[in-house]
Amino acid sequence: MIVTKSIADRVKEMPMLSVVSTRLLELLGEDNYAIRDVVSIVENDAILTTKILRAANSVAYSPRVPITSVTAAINNMGEKVIMGIAIESCAPKVFKDPLGGYMSEAGQMWDHSLFTAIGARQLSSYTIRESSSNLAFTAGLLHDIGKSVMSVILEGNTEEMLGHIDNGEAVSFLDAEKKIAGMDHAELGYELAQHWKLPEQLAMAIRYHHHPQDVDDKYKDLVYTVHLGDILAMMAGIGTGVDGLAYSIDKTYKDYIEIEEDQLAIVVADIQEEFAKTKQAILGEEAE
Ligand SMILES: [Fe+2]
Ligand SMILES: [Fe+2]
Repeated sequence: MIVTKSIADRVKEMPMLSVVSTRLLELLGEDNYAIRDVVSIVENDAILTTKILRAANSVAYSPRVPITSVTAAINNMGEKVIMGIAIESCAPKVFKDPLGGYMSEAGQMWDHSLFTAIGARQLSSYTIRESSSNLAFTAGLLHDIGKSVMSVILEGNTEEMLGHIDNGEAVSFLDAEKKIAGMDHAELGYELAQHWKLPEQLAMAIRYHHHPQDVDDKYKDLVYTVHLGDILAMMAGIGTGVDGLAYSIDKTYKDYIEIEEDQLAIVVADIQEEFAKTKQAILGEEAE
């Protein structure tokens, strides 16, 4: 892999995730963690606690009695929503800024990441081996994180890149990214994951989300759920811009995820419903 100086510098310049988010991500990377550990991390952060309580009491969840504790909020919404709120609030710029290099509008990256996260989580109940639904959700949220840096590099070069694909010099969008930047957005995301010291499973899901067959076997269940969740998001029209339909499905997912192709359409409808609800809970008034 060619890591150009400028990419390494850009990665280093990315602000670190907040201590609370990093600790939550670390915890989630462990096989066995207790809800009380999640609660004690969240309660150390007043802003995050406020956001979580606001989401738990929002119309999206409309609890019968007001939710006044983090424990009750987690019981009501599940850890995945907590992770969504934590990640969104520690890196709002990454998710909400427009990705100029991908010709994608503000907010599209967040929609795509959230849809993929919910898809990956749902698909984790179809994996042949047991897999963690919370980890799938978080990996889905973070899978395209490399695009935040890649977009800056591609800005002004997007036409040239599409030209590489049109004239056959590049066989895929990822290939074209490599031609321009020396690495694709998945590899760049992996560099960011290292910078942020994310748990190994998350780093691997980011690195291999377009090539799940290449990852070490022990990560395959997780990476295939993210891969398929990503494809479903793009099929549902929730992409991140110019590259929206430029990736192909890796059919070997069938060795790890037991789901018929016609069932996928039903799963998409479920994801869409949950997506609207979760988006409203996490973004509050800002959601349409
Ligand atoms: Fe991607
Ligand atoms: Fe994606």
